[in-house]
Amino acid sequence: MNLEDVVEWANNSIFDKTGEHLTPIQEAILTGVWQRQKYPQIAKDFHCSESHVKKEAVKLWEKLREELGEDLNKLNFRSKLEKKYRVSQASQLGHCLLQIDNINIGGQFIQTIENTKTRSPLPPDSPQNKNQSPIINLTDAPELTSFYDRTSELSTLKQWILQAHTRLITVYGLSGIGKSAIALKLIEQTQTEFDYIIWLSLTNTPTLSTLQTELKQFFGRSPQTPLPTVIDYFRFSRCLVILDDVQNIFKSSQLAGQYLAGYEDYGKFFKQIATSSHQSSLILLSWEKPREIATLEAENLSTRTLHLKG
Ligand SMILES: Nc1ncnc2c1ncn2[C@@H]1O[C@H](COP(=O)(O)OP(=O)(O)OP(=O)(O)O)[C@@H](O)[C@H]1O
Ligand SMILES: [Mg+2]
Repeated sequence: MNLEDVVEWANNSIFDKTGEHLTPIQEAILTGVWQRQKYPQIAKDFHCSESHVKKEAVKLWEKLREELGEDLNKLNFRSKLEKKYRVSQASQLGHCLLQIDNINIGGQFIQTIENTKTRSPLPPDSPQNKNQSPIINLTDAPELTSFYDRTSELSTLKQWILQAHTRLITVYGLSGIGKSAIALKLIEQTQTEFDYIIWLSLTNTPTLSTLQTELKQFFGRSPQTPLPTVIDYFRFSRCLVILDDVQNIFKSSQLAGQYLAGYEDYGKFFKQIATSSHQSSLILLSWEKPREIATLEAENLSTRTLHLKG
């Protein structure tokens, strides 16, 4: 889907509903947001004030909400439209849509290619399409054969993810207490809310740069244009990343949550995830809480911690 298609689609959608065409400033906003520009830049290019751009943007998202969902905004516009376009293209043209049908709790990454022709075509906004399967990689996850209890902890985590859209969650507790198990259960119960889900273990102490490369390779698999940073993917798609065994990048000293030499930049990365504006979640599973988490949590910066006990 290129820029021309986007403008044409928005123009037609708005015209069908209101009998009006996109105004020049609305077209500039669409173009800018599609190209990942911020409002001040769009205002500068259009030679108007930022507040005018914001006012017009509110009207624009309002007009497109019926097509793309109630929670539409500048951050998720592109991913929502790309998703809708992929879905409608697949159902109209009978294309094969690559879908991950089941997450595999057995620690394997299994994907099935399902021919959407065999499904009854659904209108693009139907709940089924809204909740289409995400792309999931659980290669690094352990096996979960059965799961009992933990109802209250699971519902807390679900509330943080689904209602509060918490960006950074830490689940910490003793080895064997069930951190990985509850995270796997959480994936099973929230997967339809995400575009991408990946589980990565820090057992082999990858550097931050190695980890980020791996994440970008995974997010870059879909037809999206490659983006420069992990945070960019977090902004433009709804991603769930589980980092397991985070204690491996901490010193085994008396002071909990201190990074090994050469791994301090992980702290900055976690802070960036908590403080930047995006629509994704990072879950850390660890024996200890990273040091900066307490400060971020105290400042209520979209950070929550669950101490898992026996
Ligand atoms: N709620 C549960 N129901 C059933 N089995 C569970 C549950 N929680 C944990 N287990 C089992 O207990 C074992 C340890 O759980 P898990 O691997 O999740 O612990 P952990 O906290 O991630 O440990 P570590 O920090 O060593 O990775 C696993 O075999 C897991 O399947
Ligand atoms: Mg574990």
